Parts: sequence; structure tokens; C-alpha cells
Amino acid sequence: MTGTADLWHHYGRARAGRDRAVPGAFHWTWSQDGGPGPELLGDLSGRTVGDLGAGAARHAAHLAVRHAPARVVAVDASPAQHGTATDLFGHLAPRLRIVLSGAVPHLHTAAGAYDVLYSVFGAVDFTDPRELLPAAAAALRPGGRLVFSTLAHHVGGAPARTDVTASEIPARTPDGGTATMRRWVLRAHVWAEVLDGAGFTRIGTEVLPATGEGPRAADTLLVTAHRPR
Ligand SMILES: C[S@@+](CC[C@H](N)C(=O)[O-])C[C@H]1O[C@@H](n2cnc3c(N)ncnc32)[C@H](O)[C@@H]1O
Repeated sequence: MTGTADLWHHYGRARAGRDRAVPGAFHWTWSQDGGPGPELLGDLSGRTVGDLGAGAARHAAHLAVRHAPARVVAVDASPAQHGTATDLFGHLAPRLRIVLSGAVPHLHTAAGAYDVLYSVFGAVDFTDPRELLPAAAAALRPGGRLVFSTLAHHVGGAPARTDVTASEIPARTPDGGTATMRRWVLRAHVWAEVLDGAGFTRIGTEVLPATGEGPRAADTLLVTAHRPR
């Protein structure tokens, strides 16, 4: 995030006012309406799972209620998102733990603690991957898995980048002012290279085509990687 303003203040606010339910499904796609589900995370029963950039923690709540993990830790750096998540799903503690923290500092406190880490257009999109991905590898137990969905191209259609460079994208301050934030929109092979450099193995990428049309429709890039055993 840029500066001290919470640039995620407005995100999901309208929905939070009318939809308090634990979602009945888990989607990876940009449109959140289909495609593969939580089976990509493997069998979660008894596992320790972390959502990096969990937002309102809807995905994490679904896993906590439907998949019998030991714990799902929903990490988010935005006070607004953390507040919404706590309001909506704080009652799911202790199986769901809602943490206000940047993903990198959180992961640095959790060496080898996680069986599974995931991000749905979350912290992986908005954090320098050369910092986040090594921290994620170290926070996974040997053989642990990282799965994330991210943009396969920029919203609006511009292609993803061919090197590890952030794009400046528009954002809104809490009082409605204009701002920008950094988002890493990278080609699949670039993600694979950074993951490899961060120590991951068995790296897989897959593009899930946009289901709808319109200026904000986007293809999803789904990435899976493992910490070596
Ligand atoms: C587009 S939202 C996605 C939220 C949620 N995963 C979802 O699908 O609804 C991105 C979220 O990532 C969080 N985020 C971005 N960078 C982060 C970081 N470095 N550490 C923790 N959270 C971060 C933001 O605060 C925001 O809530």
C-alpha cells in the first residue's frame, strides 16, 4: 500500500452491509463465479492454512466452516478489511484467526508453521514478489503448498509484464481522493522464475478465461508451487 492511507477502505464495503453469510463456495477467478475450488489446496483436514490478503475473509471463513482445518489464519494489512472480517466472521474463532498485519512481517514470524498458503488477488498481487515469495517459502513446512490467483493481464486488456516490475493502478483514499498503488501483473513464466528463485518447486500455472465480457472482465492466472520436502 502507498503511504499511510488505507487504500482498501472502500473495497467490499457495500457487500459487507448486506451479505454476512459464510459463502457456500470458494472461487479463484476474478469474477468469483466459477472455475476450480478449494480442492486445489489439497485435503485441509487438520491443516494450518494461511490466506495472504484475506480482505473480508470470506474465502477463509468458507474453509474454516466447510473443510475442517486445524486453523485458517486470515491475514490482511488493511485496518478496514480487518475490521470487516472481524465483524463478519470473528465468531468463527479459534478455527478462523483474523490477523491485522502485512503478509511479509506475518510470514517472518511463522517459520515452517503453515501447511498451505493461498492468496485470491490478495497480498501476492500487491507486494514485491522478491520479498513475499521467499517469506512464504520459509513459512511453509517442507512439502507445503502455495496457491494463488492473480491477473493474467491488466484490467482493460494490456498484457502482463515480462519482468518483475510493478504497475501503478488507480486507488481511492478513505475520503474519496485519488491515489495509486502498486500491483504486480506478470506473465506466467515470470511468476515461475521468481517462485523458482524463492526456493519453490513443482510450479504450475494455468489461465482461467474470463467468463463475462466488459471493460473489467479479466482472465485469471492460477499458480501452484511447493516448498521442497
Ligand atoms: C483485491 S483485495 C482481495 C481480498 C480477498 N482476497 C478477496 O478475494 O476478496 C486485496 C487485499 O489484499 C490486501 N493486501 C495487499 N497487500 C497486502 C500485504 N502486503 N499484506 C497483507 N495484506 C495485503 C489488501 O489490504 C486487500 O484487502
